[in-house]
Amino acid sequence: MSALNLNRESTALLTEIRHAASIAPSLESLQQTVVTALSRQLAHYSWTGFYMLDPDDANMLVVGPFVGDPTPHTRIPVTQGICGAAVASGETVIVDDVNADPRYLSCSISTKSEIVVPIYAHGKVIGEIDIDSHDPAAFTSDDKLLLEEVAKVVGKYVEDRDNVLTITPTTKSASNP
Ligand code: SME
Repeated sequence: MSALNLNRESTALLTEIRHAASIAPSLESLQQTVVTALSRQLAHYSWTGFYMLDPDDANMLVVGPFVGDPTPHTRIPVTQGICGAAVASGETVIVDDVNADPRYLSCSISTKSEIVVPIYAHGKVIGEIDIDSHDPAAFTSDDKLLLEEVAKVVGKYVEDRDNVLTITPTTKSASNP
């Protein structure tokens, strides 16, 4: 883990999230813990959530647990949005200025930048972590490193269990249930 070059705050967060994964009774409860911990600790994360591919429709992302204002984008076709772009490329997407990106689907007029990190299980994208910030160009290589590790923890949780990929659409923020 030291080879990752995570800063102290990210290392502590990752330790907390790995522990949560070792005891979480469900994928949803792990996701709730992840979004709560990230948004609590990282002030530049203004909307922190999961989108997971619909098991019944591989071309559709469905919003999962999140902290932040309710989003109008509860289902996003993989051909649309920054969220869709991350699924299509299979790689982390960082957008420094969302208003300059024609792919961007607006969730809040306060959002200035966004990072989307795919989650893999058994070599396939199963969903993603999506973070918005009110600050322009808020996301650095530190965020990318941390969130890609968090995505691995969630992907491994899914890999280690059968039948955890049933989707319960979430419409309310984890911080304000
Ligand atoms: N901005 C995303 C949509 C999701 S909301 O930010 C929560 C996109 O462009 O795909």
